Amino acid sequence: MLELNRIHCGDNCDLLGKMPRECVDLVVTSPPYDDLRTYGGHSWDFFGVAWHLKRVLKPGGVIVWVVADATKDGSETGSSMEQALHFKRLGLNLLDTMIWNKPPAGANGNNDAYPQSAEFMFVVTKGKPKTSNRLADRRNAWAGTSTQTTSGGRSPKYGAASKERQEIPEFGLRTNVWDMDKSREGNEHPAPFPFDLARDHIATWSNPGDLVLDPFSGSGTTAKAAKELGRRFLGLEINPEYCAIAERRIAQQVLELEAV
Ligand SMILES: C[S@@+](CC[C@H](N)C(=O)[O-])C[C@H]1O[C@@H](n2cnc3c(N)ncnc32)[C@H](O)[C@@H]1O
Repeated sequence: MLELNRIHCGDNCDLLGKMPRECVDLVVTSPPYDDLRTYGGHSWDFFGVAWHLKRVLKPGGVIVWVVADATKDGSETGSSMEQALHFKRLGLNLLDTMIWNKPPAGANGNNDAYPQSAEFMFVVTKGKPKTSNRLADRRNAWAGTSTQTTSGGRSPKYGAASKERQEIPEFGLRTNVWDMDKSREGNEHPAPFPFDLARDHIATWSNPGDLVLDPFSGSGTTAKAAKELGRRFLGLEINPEYCAIAERRIAQQVLELEAV
């Protein structure tokens, strides 16, 4: 087994091969998108990573796979969708196709399309998710007013239906479209995802003490958020420069906490 609460530098398939089966509660990760960036020219094996993720995931565990497509000759590659469908072919469940709505970054190589602001966050589960602490922070437009609900049955056995008034709470469940900025927090990695994105998925799909894995750890955003939320973590990253950034970010967090 790999040492926990560390970033391990190397090829993710090799490192995943050292992990026992069914030890991970949650994966929050973002692989390279087609050939949009090279990250130092390293290759990776989608089919190998997908197979290992299924193997190391506990029953009821969750994978959050953040990805988007390149556009070639005016057509999106569709590789994001192919990856989601491959997880299904492996016997995993596609619980939700969530959207990360970020500030627009041009037309993604296709001048006939609208400016691109969406990335997929596929939520893939091994059976029914064992943890689902969905966040309820969407302000209800009708908060404070009440609505009429009907309770009780209409059959003679259960008596007539009765009408009740129920107050609408201030907040309702968040939707599956998350608006989040691309804030880099002074990070030198070319394509980190937002800290809030990692933090909110970890809060939703895991509990304190659970093991959270990122097999494409980059600058260690998932590891940093997992540590902040009291989860154990493992980061796998092939580029030594990014491993160093991630280690710095995680160590910095300890100093920040000690300073409080
Ligand atoms: C989209 S970035 C991940 C960024 C990360 N979510 C963050 O917030 O910093 C993808 C990462 O996968 C890494 N990578 C590519 N091939 C890999 C491999 N075979 N094994 C491990 N990591 C790999 C790249 O070096 C890159 O840092």
